[in-house]
Order: sequence, then structure tokens, then C-alpha cells
Amino acid sequence: MCRATDTLRMHLYVDTADLDLIETYARSGVIDGVTTNPSIVAETEYTYHEVVASIAERIDGPVFAQVIADDVSGMVEQGRAYDAWAPDVIVKIPATTAGYEALDRLRGEGIRAGVTVLFSVSQAVLAAKNDATFVAPYVGRLTDAGEDGLQVTRDIQAAFDAYGFDTEVLAASVRNTQQARELYRAGVDALTLPPSVFEASFDHHKTDEGLAGFRDDWGDRGDPLRADASEDQR
Ligand code: E4P
Repeated sequence: MCRATDTLRMHLYVDTADLDLIETYARSGVIDGVTTNPSIVAETEYTYHEVVASIAERIDGPVFAQVIADDVSGMVEQGRAYDAWAPDVIVKIPATTAGYEALDRLRGEGIRAGVTVLFSVSQAVLAAKNDATFVAPYVGRLTDAGEDGLQVTRDIQAAFDAYGFDTEVLAASVRNTQQARELYRAGVDALTLPPSVFEASFDHHKTDEGLAGFRDDWGDRGDPLRADASEDQR
């Protein structure tokens, strides 16, 4: 099925390794993939391989898996292995000097990989120069540190649009729906949301209030699918 997100180039991911949540979120039809990191996977009782394979079985879209090594050859070795774990894996590499070299090698082999734990426009531009599949600015952690994480992400998006880079700007570490709203307004390519923010995105108190009113007004009118009004209890 051709979906709007296939052509409109906006991706929404969830940042979790909770398989029950992922199944539920996948049924909603609105998520395009799942991001993970070492902290998230360490909360489970499974290996990184098991987590990625299990997520891949439950979603139609990429699973992002982050290398643990911090030297070039270790990152390349892990990146190659992750790429073979499932048909749609994207490797996450940290924004370090060694990371950029590992990125260059993995991209040269045709493996999809991008840069994470990223906090500046400069880091993002260097990643795009190495043909990163994505860059993940950490909006929340920048904001927590007293910096303007939203503006850094807007600036990265503006630079990429100006240069025509194909690298996806994937806003990460999003703390609340207000930050998500600002990122949507800026037209950021992609967001990954933790479960709390993803679930809150469906809610509005006026929706609850409106539905309560409709239920009250409908009262005992019964099944809306009944064949004719004579079945009414009136
Ligand atoms: C990105 O892919 C990271 O997994 C994530 O968004 C980090 O978020 P945190 O700052 O809440 O740990």
C-alpha cells in the first residue's frame, strides 16, 4: 500500500524496545520504524541481536541499532553484523572522530548508517558530507543543559535543505508534545518519540469532552447499524 509518508518524506519513529508497546503502536498505522540505543536495550533481558530481530518481526520499517564499540574497526564490525540481523536495520554511530571514519567505511559498503549522540550543526554537516543516512540531534538533552535544542535542530534542517543533502534530520531525545509541535512546525524530516510523548500525542482534553457530549446526546438510541427506525426503543 502506498502511504502518505512514502512520498511526503516525514518519518515518525518510537524510541523503545518494549515489544508489547511496539505491537500496539504498529497497529495504529502511524509509526514508520523503531529507534533503540544501548540504554534502552539494557533495560530488557535480551541480547541486542534478539531485540532487533524481535522488533523487526513486529514492524514494517527500519530498526535503528547503535554500535557499542568506540574504535573504528569495532564500530565497523558491529555495523556489518547489525546490518545482517534483519532486512531493514539502520546502524547508529556516535559523533566522534572514529565514528565518522567508521561511517565512511560502512556507507562505502552500502550499509545504511547515520550519526547519533549529536549536538551541533557542525557535527551534522560533517555527517552529511560522509553520506550519513540520518543525523539525530538530541533536542531534550540540549534543552536540559540550558541550550536551545529546538533551534539547533531547525538550523541543521535549514543547512541540509540549503545544501540539498539527502541525510534525514531525525530529531531525538524529545521530551514532550510541545517540543514535538515545534519540530513539526519547522518541517523536520523525522522525529523519534519515547512512549510517553507518542501516547500523549493522541490526547486532547477537548476530544474527551466532545465525546462525552456526543455519548450523552446519543443516550439510548441504540445500535447505529440497525436497519430502520422502528427498531428504536422510543
Ligand atoms: C535516539 O535515537 C536516542 O535513542 C534517544 O532519543 C535518546 O533520548 P534520551 O535523551 O531520552 O535518552
